[in-house]
Amino acid sequence: MINFPLDTVYLESVDSTNSYLKRIIKESGLARGMSVMTKTQTSGRGRLGRSWLSSEGDTLCMSIAVKAPYFEGFTLLAALAVYDALMPFCSDKNLQIKWPNDIICNSKKLSGILCERVNEYTVIGIGINVNDKAFASEISHKATSLFLLNNEKFDIKEIFKGVNKSFEDTFSRYGFSFAKDAKAKYESLCANLGKEVFTQNLSGVAVGIGEDGSLLLKTDDGIIPVSSGEVAVHNIY
Ligand code: BTN
Repeated sequence: MINFPLDTVYLESVDSTNSYLKRIIKESGLARGMSVMTKTQTSGRGRLGRSWLSSEGDTLCMSIAVKAPYFEGFTLLAALAVYDALMPFCSDKNLQIKWPNDIICNSKKLSGILCERVNEYTVIGIGINVNDKAFASEISHKATSLFLLNNEKFDIKEIFKGVNKSFEDTFSRYGFSFAKDAKAKYESLCANLGKEVFTQNLSGVAVGIGEDGSLLLKTDDGIIPVSSGEVAVHNIY
């Protein structure tokens, strides 16, 4: 099976584009890589068991399924691909990655990524705030959109195509691994580094990214790798 170019699917409404691709994979597998976008999600899912809220037709909700070996750092590589796809719309702004895979601009969240493993595939779910004009009160202080940043509306399908192309480019450049070059690029974009960060039971200064994609914290007890969960960054979120 070859992954690229991806087969593309456009839906009006679905529970979750990640769940949609997971069902197809479980039922029949895929003949090639597949990317799906929808206008509405009725049960969008986020990381750490959270739900993902979207505005019909304004938030890009999409998922890409590729047949790929599992490797540590996959979600960080996915963040590099989404970063590259969004850069053309934010070139004069402070676009960064908040570990592990939030894309933030001027310290507010522009995109979130949820990677899930099914059989020998990885499903990469991507939510991008494109033409969103406002957000629910619980996230309005920490979310932004391409519209709010640029005061301009964007063609969601074009951004979808750009993200697909960026994943193709990213996997062709780095392969299915989070190796030296990818790690160096990630570190150059990571908003956490050099900042004081907090997990549920640790605090310290983020000093680097481990070979396995973990966030390395300098604490009173030495360097401790954090490999999952929520990491709050001082002055970001
Ligand atoms: C996060 O920041 O917590 C990850 C959000 C991921 C949301 C996207 S929207 C498309 C895809 N389908 C889902 O149900 N979730 C992902």
